[in-house]
Amino acid sequence: MSFNDNFLKACRKQEVDTLPVWYMRQAGRYDPDYLKIKENYSLLEICQQPELAAEVTMMPIKKLGVDAAILYSDIMNPVASIGIDFDIVKNIGPVIDNPIRSRQDIEKLRPIDVEKDLSHVIKTIEILASELKVPLITFVGAPFTIASYIIEGRPSKTYIRTKELMYSEPEVWNMLMDKLGDMLITYLKAQIQAGAKAIQVFDSWVGALAPKDFQLYVLPTIERIFREIASYDIPKIYFPGVSSGELLPYLRELQADVIGLDWRVPIPVGRERVGDKFAIQGNLDPMILQAPLNVIESYAKEIIDLGIEKPGYIFNFGHGLYPEASLEKLKHLTEFVHDYSKKAIANKNNR
Ligand code: CP3
Repeated sequence: MSFNDNFLKACRKQEVDTLPVWYMRQAGRYDPDYLKIKENYSLLEICQQPELAAEVTMMPIKKLGVDAAILYSDIMNPVASIGIDFDIVKNIGPVIDNPIRSRQDIEKLRPIDVEKDLSHVIKTIEILASELKVPLITFVGAPFTIASYIIEGRPSKTYIRTKELMYSEPEVWNMLMDKLGDMLITYLKAQIQAGAKAIQVFDSWVGALAPKDFQLYVLPTIERIFREIASYDIPKIYFPGVSSGELLPYLRELQADVIGLDWRVPIPVGRERVGDKFAIQGNLDPMILQAPLNVIESYAKEIIDLGIEKPGYIFNFGHGLYPEASLEKLKHLTEFVHDYSKKAIANKNNR
């Protein structure tokens, strides 16, 4: 089988004859074979074993037929290297025993040491880069999203302590953004040098901020991250997470190639807000998988028709897959996107 580069082409706004599709959180929590592996190992233990982490990364490629792989890891993985102990707790998410709350806590953070602390991730990327027939996306969490976990100590709905620090001690907040920015830049460069074919920055929770605060407290660091990796010739994706529609107009200067949309923003509106420079990724509500197949197909059709109006569109959900998703429906959806988009693109080109 030859290398399938439809995903890379779409990221670069080149013509494709079939739409590429992949799913955020496609690592198979909905898949009985993945759950069997999870009976023996935690997420972090899987990540520590490059052969196994590579196998888990490849499972959705084989089972669903998606056009890109996303490294099996977590946005929290690099923070242990700067001195923050965390665990991923079942049914909760990342939990931190020593949350970062003060200037002293932030001053104590060390620079990341990828070689010493994350060599297993680099090894996993190297294995995947040589074995995959689709592009490998590697990723980091964005500074606000990571800050929200390390300040709150666990997932939060209000981000009360995060915003408390941001509004009360902006200098300390900026120091944290700088340190996280340094960590993410170094880690991304190491991932790219190891063979990543594209990178995505997940800013899952930044939509909790008002546009003014996003611009003031967070965007400069996001811009710095993308600027620092701009010279690497691979597609770069920024996903501003859920409820981020109002932040989109501020992304116009970002040196990224693709912007991910959540399902609250119609694709043409998203395109208008970010401008024509970017390809667009998204944006079906993942909960659509609870619907019967004919409903799923009609929603997918609508998004595909909007997506192919302009070059540069990658089919995905507007947020990560959840554990209750159905493997069978995901398989069906992937095939449907391929079949329907192939016909729709051919029709469009014949018009
Ligand atoms: O996309 C993939 O399948 C690749 C692997 C991946 C994981 N986490 C593995 C994981 C990726 C890309 C992530 C990113 C991530 N992690 C994000 C951004 C994506 C998003 O959904 O917006 C966030 C916010 C996290 C933090 C995190 N990790 C949470 C909130 C949770 C628990 C909640 C949940 O959805 O289950 C995790 C745990 C986690 N990370 C799991 C997996 C497969 C589930 C637990 C497990 O299988 O051990």
